[in-house]
Order: sequence, then C-alpha cells, then structure tokens
Amino acid sequence: MKKNKINWTVPKGTELTELDKKVLFYQSRGHLVPSRRLIKTPEQIEGIRKSGMLNTAVLDRVAEKICAGMSTAEIDKLVYDYTVEHGGIPACLGYEGFPKSVCTSINEVVCHGIPSEEEILEEGDIINVDCTTILNGYYADASRMFVIGRTTPQKQKLVDVARECLEIGMEAAKPFGFVGDIGNAIEKHAKKNGFSVVRDLCGHGVGLEFHEEPDVEHFGKRGTGMLLVPGMVFTIEPMINMGTWEVFIDEEDGWTVVTEDELPSAQWEHTFVVTDNGLEILTH
Ligand code: MF3
Ligand code: CO
Ligand code: CO
Repeated sequence: MKKNKINWTVPKGTELTELDKKVLFYQSRGHLVPSRRLIKTPEQIEGIRKSGMLNTAVLDRVAEKICAGMSTAEIDKLVYDYTVEHGGIPACLGYEGFPKSVCTSINEVVCHGIPSEEEILEEGDIINVDCTTILNGYYADASRMFVIGRTTPQKQKLVDVARECLEIGMEAAKPFGFVGDIGNAIEKHAKKNGFSVVRDLCGHGVGLEFHEEPDVEHFGKRGTGMLLVPGMVFTIEPMINMGTWEVFIDEEDGWTVVTEDELPSAQWEHTFVVTDNGLEILTH
C-alpha cells in the first residue's frame, strides 16, 4: 500500500488550531500538504515584502536604463550597485557558483543567462532580467521582460502571452486549492496561443531561502500537487516558448538554458503569499 507523505506534524501537547485541523483533514485524504514550517509568520511575510520592495526598485532602475547598445554586464553592474547601496545582497551572486548578480536571458535563452561585456542589446531583442534580493535575511524573486525598441509581432505576442500566463496562474491559485491548478491554467493559456511551456524548470517556495518547497510547475492537472495554505510564499515564473518546449543547458558555462529549436522564449516572475482570498504579490 502506498503510504501518504506526512508533512504536517503538530508538536505533542499543543492544541490543534483550526488551520491544523483543516490541513490534517486534507492530509488524511491522501493530499500532499506543506510542512508547517513553510507557513510564514506575519513578521516573516513583512520581511519578504520589504525585500520585494527593494527587488522591485532594482528592476525599475533597470527599466529606466535598458536600451540598445548596452551590454548585459552593464545591467549586472546596475543591479549590484543599486542593491548594495540600499542595504541588500544580490542573491544570485555566488549562488551555486553563479558568477553574476542577475540573470539576463535574450531571445532564445530561456533563463539563467550570464551577463557579459561582449553581449550587446540590439533593437528587436527581447530580454528577461531575473533579479533576486536578500534583505535582512529575506529573499524576494521576480523577473520581467524588456523589449528593446520595437520587435516582431510574433515576439511581442510571446512576451504578452507569457505575462498573461503569470496573471492567469496567479488567479487560478486559491487557498485550499492545489499547486496543479496554477500550472493547468498556465498551460491552457499558452497552448491556446500556439506556444509551449518549458517543463524542466519551475517556480518554487522562497522567502527564508532562495529555493524552498514546493516546486511550482507551469503545467499539470487541477486538484493535484501540494495543497495551498495561507502563509505559503512561492514564485510563479512561467517560461513560454514560441516553438518546442524542449531546452538544453549550454555546456560551456553550465548555466545558460536555451530552447532546443533556438526559437525565442519569454518569462515573467513574481513572489506571492497565499492569503485567505487568493494570492498577493510581494514583488509589486
Ligand atoms: N532567479 C532564478 C529563479 O527564478 C534563479 C537564478 S539562480 C542563478 O529561480 F544562480 F542563476 F542566479
Ligand atoms: Co527569479
Ligand atoms: Co524564481
């Protein structure tokens, strides 16, 4: 017999709260539930929110400056300087050996592009800038697409649909719904528009560490995956491809994720907290 995973445990002698009872009920029915430590306290949520505000200010700064002729190394410097000047730490720098402060992913690069002096932005490029900030120990993670000048209608549509996928994923998430509801909604919207969803990378819990449980896949079945409980904090960050969903990692740098067919990819990301009504964005 398959044993259920017991994630939600209550210390002996503590009285069960209404929340404990509710989650334990789902767990007893065989649903995957979060462990209790994934539920952030109001103080922790405030800390992540403040980190999110700085992260947003960093991305706003990038938005002001980004233009054709700029190198991605200049974006990296901007992110490093602004973050550090405001008391934060760029989480990417040195993370599992990542060499820069931000990920810059142009056109067919899906994510984890490494900023470089040699890489110059050109008119018509679409670029994802993915920034994660640590402030007072709290992590917030968000990314945006930037269109350099004007691009082709197809690439513009890809950027727009990827953004809609993030919004639709957010709306699909309800307290005591499931992680699979999010991915299901995203995949439907991408497919309806003739695009595909990257399957090898996913959103993730975040806040006290860079990557926590659960994995938030951007495809899947409704009613499956981890139960969504108020106080959980995670990202949604759909990577939407114009062609095939398949990707590979650049062997030379060990980081850059590229589409198999070298057609463009777009991604948007926010950090969210589950509330009693749905999701609230912490990286506005
Ligand atoms: N910010 C990315 C994410 O959304 C992770 C980047 S890890 C790095 O999860 F090492 F490449 F920076
Ligand atoms: Co990110
Ligand atoms: Co992320």
